[in-house]
Amino acid sequence: MFITFEGVDGSGKSTIIQKLKIYLLEKYSNLNFIFTREPGGDNLKEAEKIRELILDKDNNFDPMTEAILFLASRRLHLEQIIWPALKENKIVICDRYIDSSVAYQGAGKGIGVKKIKDLNDLITENTQPKYTFLFDLPMKEAEKRLFSFNKGNADRMEKNNQAFFETVYECYKDLAAKENDRFIIINASQEVEDVFQEVKIHIDMILSKVENEKK
Ligand code: TYD
Repeated sequence: MFITFEGVDGSGKSTIIQKLKIYLLEKYSNLNFIFTREPGGDNLKEAEKIRELILDKDNNFDPMTEAILFLASRRLHLEQIIWPALKENKIVICDRYIDSSVAYQGAGKGIGVKKIKDLNDLITENTQPKYTFLFDLPMKEAEKRLFSFNKGNADRMEKNNQAFFETVYECYKDLAAKENDRFIIINASQEVEDVFQEVKIHIDMILSKVENEKK
């Protein structure tokens, strides 16, 4: 089963995924998990190089080149990590995937949602997550958090302006409204422990179904 996590920068999803990893490995020791992230991929050196290229604040890319770099890193990730894991019936938990491209390059950078979706369908051979957790954090709050984390050391993507992030946020909300079977919206404005509890309730429901199917 393929599960992804999405949200604007500063929404706290990476912190929650760390906590979730410890929780899931202990509670579901009978299931096999892979925890990975985009751009890049867990232990995937080629895709990590593309990640460095994308995030380096001294680099400059036009929006389409940027989109293609994300796509190249995604294809490597699928070929080398995600597809083999799904074939072995593992549970793949991935921090960002296609919806990031749709929201950031499609909407934020103005390439167009449909164009980015079509390109992604092509390179992913229509590999879609079964569930997507969307960390919903209003931009004002995300901005405050990012400022206090980064203290002037923002990467190339984080250097985009406020209007860009507003557009990304709105696009995520639209995607979630259109595909409400896949998206699970999490209120990310809460304290970390409360966000974690909310995620846990949903993931426990999903995984108990997987366990029952195995029996
Ligand atoms: P990262 O440091 O991993 O941020 P986060 O912890 O918020 O996930 O940087 C990834 C950046 O790349 C983030 O700003 C979102 C952006 N991104 C895209 O613009 N398009 C994509 O397809 C992906 C996967 C990420």
